[in-house]
Amino acid sequence: MSKPPVKLRSAAWFGTADKNGFMYRSWMKNQGIPDHEFQGKPIIGICNTWSELTPCNAHFRKLAEHVKRGILEAGGFPVEFPVFSNGESNLRPTAMLTRNLASMDVEESIRGNPIDGVVLLVGCDKTTPALLMGAASCDVPAIVVTGGPMLNGKLNGKNIGSGTAVWQLSEQVKAGTISINDFLAAEAGHARSAGTCNTMGTASTMACMAESLGVSLPHNAAIPAVDARRQVLAHLSGSRIVEMVNEGLTLSKLLTREAFENAIRTNAAIGGSTNAVIHLKAIAGRIGVDLQLDDWTSVGHGTPTLVDLLPSGRFLMEEFYYAGGLPGVLRRLGEAGLLPHPNALTANGKSIWDNVKDAAIHDEEVIRPLTKPLVPDGSIRVLRGNLAPNGAVLKPSAASAHLLKHRGRAVVFESLEHYKERIVDPDLDITADSVMVLKNCGPRGYPGMAEVGNMGLPPKLLAQGVTDMVRISDARMSGTAYGTVVLHVAPEARAGGPLAVVQEGDWIELDAETGRLHLDVTDEELAARLVAWAAVQQVDPADATGYRHLYVKHVMQADQGCDFDFLVGCRGAAVPRHSH
Ligand code: FES
Ligand code: MG
Repeated sequence: MSKPPVKLRSAAWFGTADKNGFMYRSWMKNQGIPDHEFQGKPIIGICNTWSELTPCNAHFRKLAEHVKRGILEAGGFPVEFPVFSNGESNLRPTAMLTRNLASMDVEESIRGNPIDGVVLLVGCDKTTPALLMGAASCDVPAIVVTGGPMLNGKLNGKNIGSGTAVWQLSEQVKAGTISINDFLAAEAGHARSAGTCNTMGTASTMACMAESLGVSLPHNAAIPAVDARRQVLAHLSGSRIVEMVNEGLTLSKLLTREAFENAIRTNAAIGGSTNAVIHLKAIAGRIGVDLQLDDWTSVGHGTPTLVDLLPSGRFLMEEFYYAGGLPGVLRRLGEAGLLPHPNALTANGKSIWDNVKDAAIHDEEVIRPLTKPLVPDGSIRVLRGNLAPNGAVLKPSAASAHLLKHRGRAVVFESLEHYKERIVDPDLDITADSVMVLKNCGPRGYPGMAEVGNMGLPPKLLAQGVTDMVRISDARMSGTAYGTVVLHVAPEARAGGPLAVVQEGDWIELDAETGRLHLDVTDEELAARLVAWAAVQQVDPADATGYRHLYVKHVMQADQGCDFDFLVGCRGAAVPRHSH
């Protein structure tokens, strides 16, 4: 057992034989805690996003018990506490609206309480960045324990993937190839065990990001939620965080610029979600690492996608774990010289390369060799041009090769509701070559930047067999979605970005290779349209009060990670003044 550092943070609460120490200890003792527990044991917070409204994290009370066993075994004192739980499937208008709120909850819970180190229990998409953001702003020792993916979905004896099946099957209903009854029958087998989405959606992506950033133990990303080895990992993480406190291994020693560069490469290799671009930027901002949108190009370019998972490829997270999980992928990258910083430190005290250099790969269909990549260059493309002066992104592994360079006429939707109303119109003037443009779905516009960028195609074109079209918006898209979809256009329409003034019939040019996104109107015309646009803008009364007021006033644009401007930075975990 390692020795604690000279002074534990929690000693400022529990370490004095006076009125203050009495108060802090005495109320805790109503939980049946004996006196010796307060005599200098590291106090480990278990930051739990358990909620029955976040079904992906609904098994976390059980998981927390295993974390506790590990903490106790290593001589720590576990204290479990709840934080706001961002459940992707239920929260409206989008769980992204409350990611920053949750991060504030985490940050203030850690700083205000007698906590020496923290285990972050995360799973569903936004819970991972929210907890890492909050903990990073405190810079305490922290370790991520992910809840793990669901077992493979099943429909008629075949595998179906979380989310991806919903997009696919709903298009099939619209194309008339399956009935609504068949569609509804898929519900029960689609999410049939505890855990997060089993595709390489945002939850799995962020779990891989945490592992590649070095803030979890190896294999944290892929072990299925219901596999006993997930509970073992939780136990071992509980033991490890006690040692991390004793070693003074705080988050800033792990979340370095080097770690983020490793993560960017990893995202390309796994065919990860575009949401990672926003979340990594927000986490980096909290710990004080300079990460820019263009780093996704300069660092990531040329990285092959090796993991053959839906939505880009064929398999699901279960197969990914059995094939070797993320350590197998990192080993492949490292051997090819594509892991930029093999010496980056990780939570277990070893370098990332030490952790993975002997990793086994059991299935080369799932974790492909470099000679047979799923996509030769799977790095997220950053696009710029007069339509996105501050950038936009596209995920090539989920796009159609023939559309990556495209010129087409805009069909414009002013809002999601406008899109839903127009898209079913059989007389809509739209062809497979048109470019679908959706506005007012960005951070301020929606608000919360909903995952609506992968607009479904017009039913009449689906019935003709069209499977993909270029789509452009200031929205995000689910990590489980696919298509040639340009996302995160910045500035967004509501903030007066040029997207706001695209008109029906305008020509738009996309070139993913050169990173160009161009609206084919003159600079003078564009400027005049923006002046006319600004003249008619009004404040939405719904933005005037409540959390939404705080959100639209302070949220930054997608290229800045959609954090609140006032939350950027590490404020540390100095012990606050006494409460009485
Ligand atoms: Fe929770 Fe996908 S909806 S992980
Ligand atoms: Mg999602």
